[in-house]
Amino acid sequence: MTAIILDGKQLAQDMRGELAEEVTDFFENNSITPKLAAVLVGEDPASEVYVRNKQIACQKAGIESELHRLDADTAEDDLLALITRLNKDNDVHGILVQLPLPGHISTERILRAVNPMKDVDAFHPENVGLLVQGRPRYLPCTPSGVREILRRYEVPTVGKHIVIAGRSDIVGKPLANMLLTRGADGDATVTVCHSKTSDLAEITRTADILVAAIGRPRMLTAEMIKPGAVVVDVGINRTEDGLVGDVDFDGAKEIASHITPVPRGVGPMTVTMLLFNTLQAARLQAF
Ligand code: GUN
Repeated sequence: MTAIILDGKQLAQDMRGELAEEVTDFFENNSITPKLAAVLVGEDPASEVYVRNKQIACQKAGIESELHRLDADTAEDDLLALITRLNKDNDVHGILVQLPLPGHISTERILRAVNPMKDVDAFHPENVGLLVQGRPRYLPCTPSGVREILRRYEVPTVGKHIVIAGRSDIVGKPLANMLLTRGADGDATVTVCHSKTSDLAEITRTADILVAAIGRPRMLTAEMIKPGAVVVDVGINRTEDGLVGDVDFDGAKEIASHITPVPRGVGPMTVTMLLFNTLQAARLQAF
């Protein structure tokens, strides 16, 4: 049996069409064009690609965007001054500080400086807290993309055992909270594994839905997957073979019932959810 491919690229394209209509309606009703300000510090090549993709996606959806590029040796206070300026700018509804930041800058301090109402990444402690309490203002983009893939492909989560490999603040932890939330898109039993988990394979083999977000190329192999499980691969690793996920796709697709590819899986959905958050930010700030 070969798994059904969960085509994030196609789904993202469909959703961006829906979003563009919502942006048009919003403008017609409020004369406001949602605007995203992206901040890129330094020249990390992967970050450059991500930020460019986000800007192109904004443009196609009718969302305005501006990019603030700062040198890698920018002082933390200068970055904070920029964020303060963007916080006060009424034309800017969403602020995104691309991570990772250079080592001399405190990521925690910077993320805390973003106005929580404009925090379309949902990284600010206030937005993290609201999510944990089950009443989110914004959903973080990658976990939200994963949940949307499951929802649109009608993969039920209620009562399922979902194993998340990876405990990052960007993916593992918020996704676990979302899938635990009461309701049709949650109500799962969630296990979060990480680098210190003993016998990872024993746990992943019990997963009805396995989410890979560890950042290690092809680490999850077919033997670690229960036959018929749904596999969602959040990993994007640059290797000599090009982009590969955290799952060994060729082996896994023979055992899983559904699987996301890399690329064309979760990645395009992350950008799409950022666009939805930017429209949501404009809505919240309009009234
Ligand atoms: N770096 C890796 N993922 C993300 C993300 O979702 N948002 C931001 N701002 N930076 C990232």
